[in-house]
Amino acid sequence: MKPRHLALTALGFAFPLVAGCSGNGADATETPAPPALPALPGLPDESADPGVLEVSMRAKTSTKKYPGAKPSEVWTYEGSVPGPLLEAKAGDQLVVHFQNDLPEATTIHWHGVRVPATMDGTHLMQAPVEPGQGFEYSFALKDAGLFWFHPHMRSDVQVEKGLYGAILVRGAGEPSVDHETVLALDDVRVNADGTFPELLDDESKMMGREGNVLLVNGVSGPEIPMQSGALERLRLVNVANGRFFNLRLEGHTFHVIGTDGGLIGQPWDTETLLMAPGERYDVVLIPNGEPGATLTLWNDPYSRGHGAVAAAPEALATVRLGADAALPGRTLPSAFPEVEKLPAVAADIPVLLGEKLDAKGEVVFTINGQAYPDVPPVLAANGSIRTMGVKNESDMDHPFHLHGFFFQRQGDTGTLKNKDTIIVKAHESMDLTARFDEPGKWMYHCHILEHAEGGMLGELDVQ
Ligand code: C2O
Ligand code: CU
Repeated sequence: MKPRHLALTALGFAFPLVAGCSGNGADATETPAPPALPALPGLPDESADPGVLEVSMRAKTSTKKYPGAKPSEVWTYEGSVPGPLLEAKAGDQLVVHFQNDLPEATTIHWHGVRVPATMDGTHLMQAPVEPGQGFEYSFALKDAGLFWFHPHMRSDVQVEKGLYGAILVRGAGEPSVDHETVLALDDVRVNADGTFPELLDDESKMMGREGNVLLVNGVSGPEIPMQSGALERLRLVNVANGRFFNLRLEGHTFHVIGTDGGLIGQPWDTETLLMAPGERYDVVLIPNGEPGATLTLWNDPYSRGHGAVAAAPEALATVRLGADAALPGRTLPSAFPEVEKLPAVAADIPVLLGEKLDAKGEVVFTINGQAYPDVPPVLAANGSIRTMGVKNESDMDHPFHLHGFFFQRQGDTGTLKNKDTIIVKAHESMDLTARFDEPGKWMYHCHILEHAEGGMLGELDVQ
């Protein structure tokens, strides 16, 4: 079926930025010096057992000031945007005593973590946590890597309001580095009065909401400290609703050592790193430059369809090299153990990503021609290895996300990697193979949250 294209296509997508709110511009007028990069806050471990990380986490409202706007009411985990960074070791048990003090029901989904289905935080397997109620999440952290968490109810609204945090799980065989930084990349669309637009404009409905303020760890245009000559490791996650980040660090290449599912066998080098919402990358680099020098971390233009492209590179952050002389003799890690390769079974689960107009003439996003909840569930036997044939029939990219399992792209020309979120470009097809070894009801969807909430979501029932 050929998707019908909407009047808005004709308008073009110029991505108007609110005057003075784009990255550096706002900081130049509001704050003379770039803000320091905030670290994601930790939470106290309530367990004496070294194999258990036990925390209490409350979702609650708070206020936060974004550049170019009056203070906003934000929704937070433990009062801050971003929420906490939970740090643990592979094999640890994570216990989260969750309390919902928000005015509406919510859940927590542990994006990329291989949890039992009852802990996955979707309405398929758990009752919504109503205001004033709590829920105990408890599961083993099987894999090392950077993961994140966010609500899975009205996610387009709740994540935009500030509900997200990260989980850093360390494994055996981590590279030894001089310095490691977790960066949560986000944007927010904020009105001058501090409110977030309730009703989406046509462009945001179509493309997913892009913000007028770019954020790194919750602040606009921060300064990221690094040391010349040091082995610097960056753990990156894109937590935005709809924005893709196309990162480039002036004068440097990223040495990619891992992605959603952890470290990869064969690292690769890239000058730009494209990250869709939900994706994570693990990169290392050795900055070179004079002590005290600054380097710009750019968000380069990238067109994700419908002619949408940012006009020019936008400055996302500034890397400032410390005053010390360059450290000598560091080398980039060259190889890690290969991830286990899944057999290339033929695709027998068709997943056609598209869009159509509903009876009211509103655009809805579809899987196999239907919008959720009308998408028939996929059935799979527990323990089976199956392949989803994902075909994007639309004119824009969709980041495809599968809950509960990593997948491998067949015929991937790059190094073998375990992913849980992958960009399926406009009119692109790919076969994604996974081992469905955990029973229960799972979701798969586009991670542009407006698309997921707009129908591009399906269920997978592993029995
Ligand atoms: Cu990060 Cu179902 O999502
Ligand atoms: Cu999408």
